[in-house]
Order: sequence, then C-alpha cells, then structure tokens
Amino acid sequence: MSVRSIEARVNPVYLTAKTAVCLMVQAGIPEADKIVHALALENNAPLQNMTDAETILGNALVVEAKYRTMCRLIEASGYQTCVDLPCGYTPKAIYMAEHNRNFVGLDLPIVVGEAGPIIRQLAGSAENVSFHGVDATNYTSLKKALQGCVGPLCISTEGMMMYFSDDEVDNVIANIQCLLREHGGCWITPDPEYALQFCGTFRAVFGEESLAKLMATKDEAQGQSAVAALGNAFIIEPTDIQNSQARAETLLAKHSLKVEKVNLGEHMPELSVYKQFAPEQIVRFKEAMHHCHYWVITLDEAKEIQTDRPREEQPFELQYTVKKGILHLALHGRLDTISAPRLLLAWEEANADGSIEGVRIDCAQLEYISSAGIRLLLEMQENCSRHIVFSGASVKVKEILQQKGFGDVI
Ligand SMILES: C[S@@+](CC[C@H](N)C(=O)[O-])C[C@H]1O[C@@H](n2cnc3c(N)ncnc32)[C@H](O)[C@@H]1O
Repeated sequence: MSVRSIEARVNPVYLTAKTAVCLMVQAGIPEADKIVHALALENNAPLQNMTDAETILGNALVVEAKYRTMCRLIEASGYQTCVDLPCGYTPKAIYMAEHNRNFVGLDLPIVVGEAGPIIRQLAGSAENVSFHGVDATNYTSLKKALQGCVGPLCISTEGMMMYFSDDEVDNVIANIQCLLREHGGCWITPDPEYALQFCGTFRAVFGEESLAKLMATKDEAQGQSAVAALGNAFIIEPTDIQNSQARAETLLAKHSLKVEKVNLGEHMPELSVYKQFAPEQIVRFKEAMHHCHYWVITLDEAKEIQTDRPREEQPFELQYTVKKGILHLALHGRLDTISAPRLLLAWEEANADGSIEGVRIDCAQLEYISSAGIRLLLEMQENCSRHIVFSGASVKVKEILQQKGFGDVI
C-alpha cells in the first residue's frame, strides 16, 4: 500500500479541498485552472455528486466570495506573513507572492505533499512561499512548521473548523492562541458563520429551491469528509444564532481571545462569477452578505492567559505483539492524522492473514486521540470478532473513547 493511500484512509477530509479548487475554476478565480490541470481534475470528478449545475454555481459563489474577501482582509491586516491553515489546493500562495507577502501553507501531509510542488512551481518557486504538513490539533507539528518565521503572522482559516468535534476545536483554538502568543498577529476566519453565508447565499439566488440545494451541498461535504455533524461549539447555528454566537465567544474568551466581526457585505470585492447570474440575483446576494461576518481574532491582553500552553506533546510511538489471535498494542503520545498511518500499517501487517480476533490497547502513555485516530480504531473494530479492550487510559482519553462509542469496553 502506498503512503498516499494510507494517508487518504486515515483522513478523507482532504477531498473537500479538491472540490473547493474545482469550484474556484467554475467561478473564474485566476490560476485555479492551472492547479486543477496539474492535479488532473479537469473532468471535475470532485463535483460529480452535486446534483445540478445550479448547486455547483451556488457553491462557486460562496467559494469566490470567501476567497477574494479573505485575500483582501489578509492584506488589510498589514502583516507581512500569511499562514494559511488549511491551505488546501487554492492559488492563495500565488496571489500572496505576487502581492509581496510571505506565504506559509499548512495542511495535512497528504495535501501539502501534492499541492506544494505544483503551487510552488506556479508561484515561480518564490523563496517566500513554503508548505508544511501539519495536523491543526497537534501543537508540535504547528510549532515546527513555523520555526524560523519572524514577525507577526496573519493566520487564515477557511473551511476547516466545522470538520472538528468539540474536543478537537478546543484544541485547535488553544494551539492558535499559543502561536499568536509566540509570534504576534491575528487569526482571520469566516468559519464560525459559514452556515449563515451558505444559507444567505442560496436563499438570495435560488429562493424557494434553496433548501434542497443546500441539503445536497451538505450531504456532499459530509460524504467527502466522513464527518457526522459539520458543527461544534465554534460554529454558529442558523436556527439559534444568538445562543450559538454566545457559545463561540465564550469559547474564545476561555482561551483569552477576543473577536472583531468584519461585515462581509461591506468588505466583499466584485466577483467574476457574477456574470453567470441575473442582475436581480446579485442585488439580493449582496444584500444578504450584510448579515454575515468574518471573524478577526486576537489575544485579549486584558485577560490573563488561562490555558497551560505552550506544551510539547510526546512523540508518537507504538509497540505490538500478537498472541493467540489477539493483537497487544501499546500506544504513546498522540494518535492523530499524522501518527494514525503508522498504526494502520502495523494493523495491516499484524492482520495480513486475517487471523486477528481481538485487540488489547495499553493506553497508559497515550495523550490524545483525534477523529482520525477514532476512525481507524473503528475500522479495526469492524474487522475483529471481539471488542477492542483499552487499559490504563487517562481521564481525557477515556472521555474521548466513551464519546465515540467505545464506552463499554474500557
Ligand atoms: C474545505 S477544505 C478547505 C481548503 C482551503 N482552505 C480552501 O479554501 O479551499 C478543508 C481542508 O482542511 C484540511 N484539514 C482537515 N483537518 C485538518 C487538520 N486536522 N489539520 C490540518 N488541516 C486539516 C483538509 O486537508 C482540507 O485541505
């Protein structure tokens, strides 16, 4: 099995980034067509499950509004270095290099392994463009990627926060707070209000038909990411705006962060995709975007930092033996998108002849399990006739396992 296929199995969410760049081509965003060509995606395979041409167009409108407004806000921040977490396959690196900014693209290893060489070449191998494989829930990977980055950072996050569980989102916010403490700067993200932007856009341009098209879009994103909810404590719910807003701001305050909300309607530039819509649709769309905001988040100097970071995690290690059809595993450090491929390889090796009936995992040295780790444990469970048994788990790990349905086997 290739490294790529192993990485793809542990976290399929990277596929959503391929959809995004194909939508950018539909919208007419410069250079996106060259990236899609280099990825051999001209057949638009990632868009094939979207039910109709209008749903694709509605998505292209959301994506272009987000991309161009974010580029504008990043430039307006005045910071020289843009850290795009996650960078996906977008042409933002090329745009930033052309506008004399440093660009640091961070994403899962499977994405940067593919996107990095293509985009660096399109950016003329500019010295101020770099890409690094990270897991946003893993602080050590972020810190290592930004080693040597001087000056304040403008961290941008488009299209990632909704894929996390409550526990993961809390971790990612703690990590970003820590990066802001170390480097200075700000964090800009449209993600908390992504559902408001989608609903407002689709309602404005498709009227009564918007609900069916929104549901098709949501099904596609859930299918590609293998994520059940597309929501967490950081995401505003269109059906309960007030309470979910308060919840998200409380979460930021817990990490000594504060938010300034930038009105999308007031900051959105003209879009090339407008030529594919009727004038009245564009008028309604522009009006609707006045009800959405992008969040500019900074350290709240007035608040004492309460989280106990910075904290470097233990490196991931695993040992295993097989006795009488039982795989005995000892895991150390974090089981996440970066380390899960090693566990998957060990599992495939140990179970090459399909003789493993059960798994016992010593969790005494295990610090954390992300969704990617859970997905893999569930896959292992499906292939065993006995329950996986966990021992020595910390309170944190036990809580994560219990939430994910491993509760009765600890
Ligand atoms: C919808 S795409 C958005 C990509 C890009 N920002 C854009 O606008 O097209 C979601 C991205 O989040 C990345 N991602 C998901 N989980 C991640 C994690 N734990 N750490 C880093 N990146 C992650 C995926 O690999 C994917 O590239």
